[in-house]
Amino acid sequence: MRRLSKRQAIFLPDEWNIIEEGFHPEKNFMLETIFTVANGYLGLRGNLDEDFPDKSQSFKATYINGFYEEYDITYPEGGYGFAKRGEAMVNVADVKTFEIIIDGEKFTLFNGKINKYVRKLDMRNGRLVREIIWEFNSSKKIYIIFERLACLKRQHLGAINIRIKPLNFSGRIKIVSKIDGNSSNLLETEDVRVGSGIEKFPFETIKAYCDKLNGFLMQKTKKSRLSYGCMVDHGLSIKEFFCKSFVDKEKNLVTFEIEFDAKQNMEYSLTKYFSYFTQRDVEEDLIEELCAAEILEAKKIGFENLLKEQREFLETFWENADVVVKGDPKIQQAIRFSLFSLLQSTGRNGISNIAAKGLTGEGYGGHYFWDSEIYIMPFFIYTHPEIARMLLIHRYNLLDAARQRAEELHHRGALYPWRTIAGKECSAYFPAGTAQYHINADIVYAIKKYFEATDDLDFIKNYGAEIVFESARFYADLGHFSEEKDGKFCIFCVTGPDEYTALVDNNAYTNYMVQMNLEFAARLYSLLKETDKEAFERLCNKLKLSDEEIELWKKIANNMYLPYNAKLKIIPQDDSFIYKKRFDLSKIPEDQFPLLLHWHYLDIYRYQICKQPDVLLLIYLLREKFSYEDLKNNYEYYEPITTHDSSLSSAIFSILAVELNLLEKAYEYFRYTARMDLDDLNDNTKDGIHAACMGGAWQAVVFGFGGMRTGNGLLSFSPRLPKNIDYISFKVKYKGCTIKGEITKNKAIYTLLAGEAILLSHYSQTFELKSGQAKEFVIET
Ligand code: BGC
Repeated sequence: MRRLSKRQAIFLPDEWNIIEEGFHPEKNFMLETIFTVANGYLGLRGNLDEDFPDKSQSFKATYINGFYEEYDITYPEGGYGFAKRGEAMVNVADVKTFEIIIDGEKFTLFNGKINKYVRKLDMRNGRLVREIIWEFNSSKKIYIIFERLACLKRQHLGAINIRIKPLNFSGRIKIVSKIDGNSSNLLETEDVRVGSGIEKFPFETIKAYCDKLNGFLMQKTKKSRLSYGCMVDHGLSIKEFFCKSFVDKEKNLVTFEIEFDAKQNMEYSLTKYFSYFTQRDVEEDLIEELCAAEILEAKKIGFENLLKEQREFLETFWENADVVVKGDPKIQQAIRFSLFSLLQSTGRNGISNIAAKGLTGEGYGGHYFWDSEIYIMPFFIYTHPEIARMLLIHRYNLLDAARQRAEELHHRGALYPWRTIAGKECSAYFPAGTAQYHINADIVYAIKKYFEATDDLDFIKNYGAEIVFESARFYADLGHFSEEKDGKFCIFCVTGPDEYTALVDNNAYTNYMVQMNLEFAARLYSLLKETDKEAFERLCNKLKLSDEEIELWKKIANNMYLPYNAKLKIIPQDDSFIYKKRFDLSKIPEDQFPLLLHWHYLDIYRYQICKQPDVLLLIYLLREKFSYEDLKNNYEYYEPITTHDSSLSSAIFSILAVELNLLEKAYEYFRYTARMDLDDLNDNTKDGIHAACMGGAWQAVVFGFGGMRTGNGLLSFSPRLPKNIDYISFKVKYKGCTIKGEITKNKAIYTLLAGEAILLSHYSQTFELKSGQAKEFVIET
């Protein structure tokens, strides 16, 4: 196992907080990502409140989930059907930077002396707090606290509270607060995974005004032609102050200069409230009015009550979602950080999803990938199914765009884009983009798992079934029965999950997952036919579905080509994979990883090298289809050639290693997954969190050490803990019940916290739990 032990974190090992003690400017870039506060809609990157002078080590950003600018994708040698217009999450106006001038001296940590510096992301209370004692002009000391929120209950609202107290002097304080509409995105960078083709300044300012402490800025993107508005207002605890506010529309700036006399040992507080709405959420002409209403309400409620709301929201969140891991506080911290970050990243309004980097940075252009369905969705399905539902509704809302894309590529049905925001295919490199046709089946898989866990037939009738049918139709059209493969249904020229192998025939993952899609489609067709005539007819009419087409899907599913190599006793990743030369990864110098930044793709494609699990992911997802021997043989075959160059890799290896009783290995993979961003293990946390990896961390606890499986409609557990973990507990929701699992090295306790009764299994021993009941089992070691 390579590259799994690495650097030390700078954070204290606190279980509920991420704490930076002492100022670490050398880590600024990465810390900006970690200290983001977001609420699934609005994301405030963790930039310093007083700004960071070295722009090569800082990226100031505020994002709105799903709000994007378009750009033209240009190819010197293009081709038919290549993605032509990209969408990238656009960096909107900044409201979180202040200039603070104390007795004529500008507050900056690069001058004077820092007597105290603590920055804390408080995951129980949903706030970022910075506490500083700064000494300047030789001896003057001032105490400053900044507190920043992205309101979880009011997604269009955020607030920053600044409290200032001169400790050993009295003097004049000036705070300059702004709406700064000059934000821009990172343009192309050396790392192909970061930067977009968006214009340097992608906005037109269409409105800007201010009135004392209140101001508004409205901008429109130049290409996507989408408007957003940002309104701010300030609340002060100070009776006598002087305020000058002014607008410079040319400079896209609304400025407020607030000045007051501060007395020694007195505390002065200023709260800035801000609200954002976009034309993606509401009609353009309502933006200003809605911002104003939000701000008015916020001022009425006040900062303390907004904090109280955060606490209440998070109490419910943690009540459902918390995972306790005893044995290593750094792991406990990391797992909570992962779950908190997932909450912060996830769109809940049906028009947004989870970007690969959440709302924290510029990596991957703010695009949504299969990361959402395969890596992150399980966490929501089993802890907050109502959020999983909204994520799937978002996919439903992109179905028309997916139909158009299928048509453009001369196929029937619908083809989802590999990466997108509003529905367009945004991948400019089709071998690892459009060719990943498995994206459809990944979405279907999530729908299937959601439905099995919730029995939400209403969702299936109104949204889910249509996606499943259109996807089945697409796949039936994509492949064909090949005579030379004994008449089996084959799918040619696709890329599976492993992006170090591209454009192959019969990728096993794709074929199996397509089979699952077709079978599920046929099952839903019968279910609707039998249980809901109205919904059945509506869908049949809309999609022109017939019994014949369903018969064809069944025939394809029954005759799908499912590769197996009897000599090696493994599933070959695709038709050509096992004939390629195997690469001894230990021969590659460490500085060559990730290979995609140092090797030409053609070079990589020529070898048996995997960026991430492909066959092994398949075995994990469709576990009930494979034997223990299949798992073992394939694990032994694929593990040595996997680089884990994708952060999506190690969680899956961890989960499967538990089943193979390779517990220490499982722990190493898990630790790597859980600490990915806090320890910056891939050296790119500065570009944003690894959201899929965080979803993987949850799966590694619940499906890995908890051994949970959901195949065959029964919730089963085969728990096992490694040496470094003494105890885990988690909760899952399944068919209206809430089950708590508590695992130690030698026993497991299952409690039914909500619901009438449920049938569970512990290492193949089936048992029933009634409401409130707990049962304990011994774990054989
Ligand atoms: C992985 C993909 C993933 C993407 C976004 C790539 O490095 O190979 O599987 O979807 O990152 O996270």
